[in-house]
Amino acid sequence: MSDAPLLAADGLAAGYGGPPVLRDVSFGAHAGQRVAVLGPNGGGKTTLFRALLGELRPSAGTLTRPPRLGVVPQTERSRLDFPVSALDVALMGTLSTLPWWRRPGRADRQRARAALADVGLVDRADHTFGDLSGGQRQRVLVARALVQDAPVLLLDEPYVGLDTPSVALLDDLLGGLAAQGRTLLIATHDVDQARGWERVLCLNRRQIAFGAPADVLTRETLEATYGAEIVELPGERCVLPAHHHEHGHDHDAA
Ligand SMILES: Nc1ncnc2c1ncn2[C@@H]1O[C@H](COP(=O)(O)OP(=O)(O)O)[C@@H](O)[C@H]1O
Ligand SMILES: [Mg+2]
Repeated sequence: MSDAPLLAADGLAAGYGGPPVLRDVSFGAHAGQRVAVLGPNGGGKTTLFRALLGELRPSAGTLTRPPRLGVVPQTERSRLDFPVSALDVALMGTLSTLPWWRRPGRADRQRARAALADVGLVDRADHTFGDLSGGQRQRVLVARALVQDAPVLLLDEPYVGLDTPSVALLDDLLGGLAAQGRTLLIATHDVDQARGWERVLCLNRRQIAFGAPADVLTRETLEATYGAEIVELPGERCVLPAHHHEHGHDHDAA
């Protein structure tokens, strides 16, 4: 791990023209770190990602980021139905690195195929993207981000809608990418999952906490993050209400 963070924010505020919807964001993420981005719906997770991508101009603060960021956007199922192959989707990752007049060529197709191999789906290259399981689609989208050859990947709720085997596969994949030295920001609703990662960033319209999981994932911080949405169970364990756990809708094979 080097001293300088690959991705950092200092006093960041961002919004959509009116008052900022997210403020006071200060964190740094280094090579090899998975950073869980936790927060309630509407807490500002996607807004943070859009600011980091340069889609929203910060109204305050500063950003440090590499020239290229890989992105796995929040899933909108309606947009996943167009008849393209898994390889086509991975190939889209090459577009951002090509001059506008060039179409992807043989070398680009090879990179896209290699990225599909990295996510364990090279045998599905010619399958229609929309026919794949939710977990397979997420991994194809990770492949598309890998093709961009970016040191930092932003993944916006990639686990939503996945069944348990698909969650495990994606976990292994993301763990492997971190082990290779990539930095991953991963918006998730699974607090237990975040415990196993390197850093946690809690957002609720502003930054509530940032740090190592053991320091951040306290009852106090989780209550400040999720407010009234938090549910208490006997045994002192904090869990999120059922609607946050959308796993289990994806029963076809991982
Ligand atoms: N395009 C937009 N224009 C105006 N307000 C938006 C837009 N997108 C999100 N917001 C508002 O910003 C706040 C944070 O939303 P968002 O970043 O999507 O939260 P999260 O991803 O954590 O669910 C919400 O109040 C939301 O209504
Ligand atoms: Mg969001």
